[in-house]
Amino acid sequence: MPPVLRHISFCLPKGKVLAIVGASGAGKSTLADLLPRFYDPTEGYIAIDGIPIERFSLSSWRQQFGIVSQEAILFNDTVRNNIAFGCDMPAPSDADIENAARIAHAHSFISRLEQGYDTIIGERGSKLSGGERQRLTIARAILKNPPILILDEATSALDSDSERAVQEALTQLMQQRTTIVIAHRLSTVKNADEIIVLSEGNIVERGTHAQLISQNGAYAQLWAAQSSLAIKQFRA
Ligand SMILES: Nc1ncnc2c1ncn2[C@@H]1O[C@H](COP(=O)(O)OP(=O)(O)OP(=O)(O)O)[C@@H](O)[C@H]1O
Ligand SMILES: [Mg+2]
Repeated sequence: MPPVLRHISFCLPKGKVLAIVGASGAGKSTLADLLPRFYDPTEGYIAIDGIPIERFSLSSWRQQFGIVSQEAILFNDTVRNNIAFGCDMPAPSDADIENAARIAHAHSFISRLEQGYDTIIGERGSKLSGGERQRLTIARAILKNPPILILDEATSALDSDSERAVQEALTQLMQQRTTIVIAHRLSTVKNADEIIVLSEGNIVERGTHAQLISQNGAYAQLWAAQSSLAIKQFRA
């Protein structure tokens, strides 16, 4: 099989925000998944402060990440334990868990569940809606307070009201934190320190929003298409 990603090279400075955009299937999630080592590259390497990441134990390396992905990673356990997952030292208090859930706009739906925070959510959270699952993983990331955040379409399953509110919480969480953000909605990537445009596994453009707009290439086209769509929706 041909590789999904090729000729990828970039540097993510501490505390900065890197956005990855591109068509469906371009390789955005695959690229983001290399960082917490859900896959290892078949060629090349990833290093932090010059040290290849395989030198760290998988558990201590993954401790550095808060991940909100397209497919929520949830377990057939209680709401409480799902939010607290990965946050074991020190174990979070119930008040901390509830606070994170409130910020992620999850507290109200959790309170309506028969057993509240003690409700078992089913295999992969099957007893919850997509938006509810997503809000649980957002609460988990907020509670964990990690140095590196990966937000892969983190609000894609939410309705626009919850999306706006949760996006605000995520923007807060991104402050002073190294972040990789993937979003089809370009308004959420506009303020990134660097934007990488992927096409069929290659980086075809990179720069800030202003640079890429003035370059008038693939990103500028995506931006123009979304802006005219937004105007049409506004008029409709
Ligand atoms: N586990 C896998 N095994 C084999 N191929 C895969 C696997 N996951 C993804 N791919 C392939 O890798 C390519 C990139 O997929 P990826 O999920 O990274 O795309 P993406 O840019 O995140 O797309 P989307 O915007 O739809 O989320 C696709 O062609 C996909 O079919
Ligand atoms: Mg993806």
